[in-house]
Amino acid sequence: KKGDFDHFMKKEIHEQPGSLTTSMRGRLKNGIVGLGGLKDHMRTIRRSRRIIFIGCGTSYHAALAARPIMEELTDVPVTMEIASDMLDRKALIFKEDTAVFVSQSGETADTLHALEYALENGALCLGVTNTVGSTLARKTHCGVHINAGCEIGVASTKAYTCQIVVMVMIALAIGSDKLSTLAKREAIIAGLTKLPEQVRDVLKLDGEMKVLAQSLIDEQSLLMFGRGNNYATALEGALKVKEVALMHSEGMLAGEMKHGPLALVDEHLPIIVIATQDDSFSKQQSVIQQLHARKGRLIVMCSKGDASLVCPDGRSRVIEVPQVADCLQPIINIIPLQLLAYHLTVLRGYDVDQPRNLAKSVTTQ
Ligand code: F6R
Repeated sequence: KKGDFDHFMKKEIHEQPGSLTTSMRGRLKNGIVGLGGLKDHMRTIRRSRRIIFIGCGTSYHAALAARPIMEELTDVPVTMEIASDMLDRKALIFKEDTAVFVSQSGETADTLHALEYALENGALCLGVTNTVGSTLARKTHCGVHINAGCEIGVASTKAYTCQIVVMVMIALAIGSDKLSTLAKREAIIAGLTKLPEQVRDVLKLDGEMKVLAQSLIDEQSLLMFGRGNNYATALEGALKVKEVALMHSEGMLAGEMKHGPLALVDEHLPIIVIATQDDSFSKQQSVIQQLHARKGRLIVMCSKGDASLVCPDGRSRVIEVPQVADCLQPIINIIPLQLLAYHLTVLRGYDVDQPRNLAKSVTTQ
């Protein structure tokens, strides 16, 4: 049932205005976020000493994207765990912790084992999943379904953006008892309402991303630099490129650039820099300058109208996207990178929906 689309991945990328609408449906009423699945546990969550996000792959990246707003609105420290690493380290987890498990399928073995471990240690366990009746949904104490609709392409796309939206709504709900952030929360809720329309807008970059993909088909490697709210965008964009286009790609924290990766920069290696407007914009501008100084081959993602700010001499390629609330920007910014990964894959002649060696749901450890 791919309809007018050649592949599920493309269909699912283009479904995002609708899937995001469904994710939010019935949950934003009169400026208040209502999440039925959490309300009985809200007191415990607010009092927890720490929130731990746990997941694998794209689901982990979605949690990473939501981490800054979760910390800001809840005033609870948020730490991140990749499920397998948490188990390898037997990481410390306490009954005063709220552990948030993120999984599209709700059946990922590593995530489910980490869940068992957190339950044994007495943490409150919250699930964020796309799959009603999944093991994750059944075994957690409480949770929220993302309602993205069935995702068939092995590469997760619409589930990623819906996961972020749901975690932003969870942050809004937990933080709703704080007067100090009222204006911020209202602005985010207004932003959520407009988001599907802006996603529709950014999807118009499809043709432009195909042209960009054409210029990159023979490359060995592609770097992506992000920071702050968009560190996750860099990691997730690179994961999409490596898993479907079978091209080496690495997402990096731009703040780490001088601590090693800068040595890779030359006039050949393509580098995508995410520099949309938010608190870290000026830092990203200086990253761009430093990369220019080393003759880096840059592709800069910026907010609409900022092309001359991010690339005054017109030497880099620019991807302009609509500007939205800081915490929602990762949802917009990943879409051109999903499209780029899709087109790179098709142009390189690989199987988009069923990449070699991968399975949709990883049920073994
Ligand atoms: C990448 C991808 C994987 C999954 C990971 C976790 O596109 O799909 O990285 O995100 O295997 O799967 P879930 O979310 O089902 O736990």
